[in-house]
Amino acid sequence: MAPNQAAWITAPAAYPFVVKENAKPKPGPGEVVIKNMAVAINPVDWKIQSLGRYLEKYPFILGEDTAGTIEEVGPGVSRFVKGQRVIAHCNGLMTQDPANAAFQSYAVVTEQLVSELPDCLTFEQGAVLPLAISTACAGLYRKDYLGLPLPQVENVTTTGQTLLVWGGSSSVGATAIQLAVASGLTVISTASSENHDFVTSLGANAVFDYRSDTVVEDIVNAFGNAKLAGVYDAISEGASFKAVAAILDGLNATVNVACVLPYDQPTERFAPKYVLAYSIIQEPHQDIGEWIWGSYVPKALAKGTFKAKPDPLVVGNGLKSIQLGLDVQKKGVSAKKVIVTI
Ligand SMILES: NC(=O)c1ccc[n+]([C@@H]2O[C@H](COP(=O)([O-])OP(=O)(O)OC[C@H]3O[C@@H](n4cnc5c(N)ncnc54)[C@H](OP(=O)(O)O)[C@@H]3O)[C@@H](O)[C@H]2O)c1
Repeated sequence: MAPNQAAWITAPAAYPFVVKENAKPKPGPGEVVIKNMAVAINPVDWKIQSLGRYLEKYPFILGEDTAGTIEEVGPGVSRFVKGQRVIAHCNGLMTQDPANAAFQSYAVVTEQLVSELPDCLTFEQGAVLPLAISTACAGLYRKDYLGLPLPQVENVTTTGQTLLVWGGSSSVGATAIQLAVASGLTVISTASSENHDFVTSLGANAVFDYRSDTVVEDIVNAFGNAKLAGVYDAISEGASFKAVAAILDGLNATVNVACVLPYDQPTERFAPKYVLAYSIIQEPHQDIGEWIWGSYVPKALAKGTFKAKPDPLVVGNGLKSIQLGLDVQKKGVSAKKVIVTI
């Protein structure tokens, strides 16, 4: 094993990252060590760096998404062998252990959050998915959120229900649409007009421009008599909360709304529930993580029914490019995932 280099955030709001060595990774029971080949940048990374919040200790390593090869398996791991190509949701923000983060040469990950990556996908493509998968699933499948039936690779049974996914061209939204369709839902979504074809290609039945003055009434009209299963708000900012609340008013519907950022003005009628990505491997929701990461994702990726979208935007190579990756993500992306190859 080569030395383990990492991009460290050294203090609250420290800029830029400092690349230096980290300890040699060692997998514990149920864990694997992954040699990272491509990692993705998420909004939470620059939010942590810019706001100087969320971390309990410094120095720390960020990064939630990796694609790479299995370097070592820990005791009790049965699904993976050395050399296998995988993707993984690195949950260092949950464990508060920098060994579990992606922005380094090797990451230690619980096998509950790892799936095989089929040969038809590059590491750069695979790395776009992991955090989006866990985040989408926490909202879609937890019984206390939207409680949809788990997704199927084939022979999907139609539920006869329709889901609104706000922000279908975002990473989380693109994944939520694909999973909801694989759960038998009809999906209505929003995106900029230039991304409507992209969102339709993910399986959405209808897509509306969220910048249009008539977006609320357009969506209310589009629902017609459809049976509303709930809402996944993949943006969860002021404008999306306002629009979703108005749509539910227009439909005279009270349904569960899953949101990706906290909502601080809940009412009896409109109380979006904030999802936590890693909750799908925690009591009592582990059946979701098991099904998604252990069965659905590897099979659906291999069969091509679940696509690695949005496409990767590779901004650099090596850990020294991680800072550039955060800077690009912070400026904003449109239907792209920022990737750094390692
Ligand atoms: N709670 C959790 O566990 C968790 C986990 C992951 C992410 N998150 C949060 O989820 C949010 C989304 O993350 P992400 O990585 O999916 O974002 P992203 O891919 O970087 O989002 C960019 C996309 O957002 C779309 N967008 C921006 N404003 C919009 C609006 N008002 N309505 C509809 N679409 C809009 C843009 O669409 P167009 O280009 O089409 O205009 C663009 O394609 C972030 O705030 C992130 O911090 C939370």
